[in-house]
Amino acid sequence: MLSAAYQLRRGQIENYFDRVAADAWARLTSDAPVGGIRATVRAGRDAMRATLLEYLPQDLRGRRILDAGCGTGAFAVEAARRGAHVTAIDLSPTLIQLARDRLPQRLGVGEILFTVGDMLDPSLGRFDHVVAMDSLIHYRVGDTVAALAQLAVRVDRSLLFTFAPRTKLLTAMHAAGRLFPRANRAPSIEPVSEKTLLRHMDAAPTLANWNAGRTRRISRGFYISQALEVVRA
Ligand SMILES: C[S@@+](CC[C@H](N)C(=O)[O-])C[C@H]1O[C@@H](n2cnc3c(N)ncnc32)[C@H](O)[C@@H]1O
Repeated sequence: MLSAAYQLRRGQIENYFDRVAADAWARLTSDAPVGGIRATVRAGRDAMRATLLEYLPQDLRGRRILDAGCGTGAFAVEAARRGAHVTAIDLSPTLIQLARDRLPQRLGVGEILFTVGDMLDPSLGRFDHVVAMDSLIHYRVGDTVAALAQLAVRVDRSLLFTFAPRTKLLTAMHAAGRLFPRANRAPSIEPVSEKTLLRHMDAAPTLANWNAGRTRRISRGFYISQALEVVRA
């Protein structure tokens, strides 16, 4: 069951990434030069992607991975290069088209199926791992955990995702973001403390057999995000 708040936020996110910020996002995720602030975000995102890849086995041959909110597909490409069969889904048709255009000719034994839609769609099937890099950070903690709980019933090994940690700096940046004209604003992120997140996860029945594992906060200039690994007990 998708809450009204989830559906409302999902529509805002789709509008933002598919229309408002598609060009900026295309540039940020390319090799093109970017200014100082965006350069820190790019560096932080590279470090986060490397962290999430580190939380997966080196050899991913035969593993089914859902790249949940794949954007332009950088994570999916790295996982496929290690042999994974990746389903990469995003709300934004524009970003999925960009991901397809950027797909390298050779991926080795891995493969990627890019698709437009909601990561919670049960018709996507079962996976060994779900990876949601910076795609759940826009939802309230209740909806984030409800999403994880829905994904968990279709996942056999691990859920890897990021959350926006509630730090003083992030709260200040969040407040500053509200000063931008509405049209230029990203759908706001929803900072949450690790403790609150884990408390919500503990209360979710379908996450009862799952344990929090490794976690790492990545902080580079304007990029602050924290990876959390959740594994089947
Ligand atoms: C900040 S971007 C990150 C993209 C990618 N994971 C990366 O790190 O490059 C967040 C992405 O999540 C996608 N997203 C958010 N909610 C989603 C949902 N419910 N289903 C599919 N994609 C979603 C957005 O469309 C957006 O492209």
